[in-house]
Amino acid sequence: MSTAAPPPTPRQRLDALPSAPLGAWPTPLQRLERFTAATGPAEGTEVWIKRDDVQGVALAGNKVRKFELVLGQALADGYDTLVTTGAAQSNSARAGAASAAAVGMGCVLLLSGHPPPQPTANLLLDRLLGAEIRFAGDASWSELNRGVDELVAELARAGRKALAAPVGCSSPLGALGFARAFLELDAQLTAAGVDPSAIVHTTTSGGTHAGLLVGRALTGRSVRLIGVDAAAMFPRAGDALAGLAHDAATLIGLDLDLRPDDIEVISTQLGARYGAHTRAANDAISVLARTEAIIADPIYSGKGLAGLIELVSSGSLAGPVVFWHTGGYHALFEPGHGTPVADGSR
Ligand SMILES: Cc1ncc(COP(=O)(O)O)c(C=O)c1O
Repeated sequence: MSTAAPPPTPRQRLDALPSAPLGAWPTPLQRLERFTAATGPAEGTEVWIKRDDVQGVALAGNKVRKFELVLGQALADGYDTLVTTGAAQSNSARAGAASAAAVGMGCVLLLSGHPPPQPTANLLLDRLLGAEIRFAGDASWSELNRGVDELVAELARAGRKALAAPVGCSSPLGALGFARAFLELDAQLTAAGVDPSAIVHTTTSGGTHAGLLVGRALTGRSVRLIGVDAAAMFPRAGDALAGLAHDAATLIGLDLDLRPDDIEVISTQLGARYGAHTRAANDAISVLARTEAIIADPIYSGKGLAGLIELVSSGSLAGPVVFWHTGGYHALFEPGHGTPVADGSR
């Protein structure tokens, strides 16, 4: 009598997803002794950093993990072009352009704002990487996402098979890139004998946070995941993240029903709006640079780092704590950010 093989576990299904080989994994996990001392935390606090600012493809960042899965599936399904979107200086759009170039696919970017006289920072890289760029003017995040769908239809009429990736590549499949990332960190923590009380990272479109929630559920590790909001993209971040984590988990057969209250997002570092510089982020960037020679940026990772300093120096977090550096230092080289307007503000 033959017995049927057991169905694959969620973790096996995650491992079996098609993946484009883009990054150099694992990214380093480092202890930040001098930075910890400089932030004046409670006795026993130790800040560690997970360096997604260091990777294999075109200046890195958290989006590469998402594009590995999205483009892995796209290649398996015979797509020839990636269409994605974001602010004029979007890290995600630049990572999309880089990822598409790295696997030989075309890339069309829909960016908010208007063409500048001279492309700089991420926009300069988008051009170098061969992306075709369309400007959407003063568009909101949801208008950008709708514009991507229209572009896909336009390209289909021209005979191209184009795949849409939303703002931040935060589709359920993209988010699973951060479920894999959690497993990567989990193994590093185990090897280093470190059991952090929290992982702190910047959050905007939610794929990073949602994926980490899925990864945490897969390992059963008990660690707080704290997103530092840098965009106020959602009216209720808890609902949006719980929904995205649920949809991502469902793709690998995991039933993950989080309550919005289970999700920790702090909004104290946003400043005036997405893209606005803050004193706290600028100070955080300079402390990290001077103590550890690691570079963060004023729009994303600097705000996340400022959130970590706020939590550690107020005594809200103690023991080992991991800051997930999601990359994005390119914004340091661009004074204006070409930001989308808030949904519903017009
Ligand atoms: C450098 C950097 N960090 C963090 C984030 C936020 O990640 P997510 O969109 O997955 O919330 C982004 C998004 O663009 C980013 O570019």
